[in-house]
Amino acid sequence: MSRLEDLGARIDSREARIGVVGLGYVGLPLAVEFAKAGFQVTGFDLDSEKVRQLNEKVSYIEDVPSEDVRQQVEAGRFYASTHFNDLSLTDVINVAVPTPLSKTRDPDMSHIVAAVAEIRKRLRSGHLVILGSTTYPGTTHDLFVPLLEEAGLECGTDFAVAFAPERIDPANKKFDVREVPKVVGGETPLCTELGVKVFQPVFDHVVQVSSTQTAEMVKLLENTFRAINIGLANEIALMCDRLELDVWEVIDAAATKPYGFMKFTPGPGLGGHCIPVDPSYLAWKMKSLNFQARFIETAVEINGQMPEHVASKVGDLLNEDRLAVNGAKILVLGVAYKADVADMRESPALDIIQQLREKGGDVRYHDPHVPECRLDDETLKSVDLTDEALKASDLVVILTDHSGLDYDGIVAKSSRVFDTRNATRNVTDHREKIFKL
Ligand SMILES: NC(=O)c1ccc[n+]([C@@H]2O[C@H](COP(=O)([O-])OP(=O)(O)OC[C@H]3O[C@@H](n4cnc5c(N)ncnc54)[C@H](O)[C@@H]3O)[C@@H](O)[C@H]2O)c1
Repeated sequence: MSRLEDLGARIDSREARIGVVGLGYVGLPLAVEFAKAGFQVTGFDLDSEKVRQLNEKVSYIEDVPSEDVRQQVEAGRFYASTHFNDLSLTDVINVAVPTPLSKTRDPDMSHIVAAVAEIRKRLRSGHLVILGSTTYPGTTHDLFVPLLEEAGLECGTDFAVAFAPERIDPANKKFDVREVPKVVGGETPLCTELGVKVFQPVFDHVVQVSSTQTAEMVKLLENTFRAINIGLANEIALMCDRLELDVWEVIDAAATKPYGFMKFTPGPGLGGHCIPVDPSYLAWKMKSLNFQARFIETAVEINGQMPEHVASKVGDLLNEDRLAVNGAKILVLGVAYKADVADMRESPALDIIQQLREKGGDVRYHDPHVPECRLDDETLKSVDLTDEALKASDLVVILTDHSGLDYDGIVAKSSRVFDTRNATRNVTDHREKIFKL
């Protein structure tokens, strides 16, 4: 039996040891799930502070309870490490490192390349390496595999490679990791088979596709679908603004249609590591094939205009009160990119705050999940949400609809509220103070 075929049996018996490279929003939940399924798991990260916290049984990801980390560390099934030498102890290596855009908005593969460099040094016959970072179609076949093969081993014969996109939705309490089907595509049928086998103990459903390119494209379709539909919702919001209609009322009524309509909502702009970034990976790849991804370009343009639209509406609302942005006291509620997370990556709030400050606005923020954030070279600190802070503000601007905030009280105490998320939908009193996107 070849070492790769032997790996199947080792996965079945849980003897196979799992490595996860990159312990962020994606890698840490995955590592913990593998450990819960009975595998020995080692997590690798460059960030020694994250590694220290995990080995002290503390989770820094809101969706992963510290209790889960504690149980797995104490059971001896999970530890974290900055020492890549321990990769040689693993049989299956999952890669979950960032895939951002460069300053010129091209794919930045540097984290994947750096991770591969560490894996390649320890690659041996019988290894299964699974890329989970979102990336353009062809990355696994054209970049990942050739870099690994520089170790002098052959993919499909000596070692196996698969791509398995991550579908985690931070702060989504409706589905736990297990319940969301896992898509896997391998470089060869044996690679696919091994990829499916390793995820079966962790996910209720594993969806097998015919190649790594297909699996990469599945992920990009999912996130492009979201970016384009959010773009449509944002454009409908801009149209409703001109037509003096309430976009939320329009969308909620349309969403009562039981078929052929899926609800997407507008907002102050796209945020997070995925939706603003991933479609640009696909557009970049298509450009190299002389194909213009027009839907993506349009969505990027519309979504990208939303922070400016919000900043301009803030100016209009202050103007109605005979105030200028210059000198106005503006209190922003929520700076994270979406409700109930602490993630600030690509958050439109920073852009909006910056635009208002450039016009002389005295802008403060409150966010229960983000005690402080960086804007250029400055550190901004979340202010307490007191009655005085609300009363002292010329305008309160809701940019993130975190749950747990008392929106009735916020509206009651504020002079005016600009709500870009419809967070105040259930507020019944003083509705005349609320202005919606
Ligand atoms: N966050 C999400 O909701 C989400 C959802 C689906 C897919 N994804 C994709 O998953 C990938 C990871 O995203 P994330 O949100 O977990 O990122 P993250 O920034 O939260 O975590 C990445 C981790 O990788 C570490 N890292 C970077 N380079 C490394 C290296 N060379 N070796 C070891 N560790 C390294 C970082 O220190 C960090 O802890 C990205 O491709 C992203 O697009 C993210």
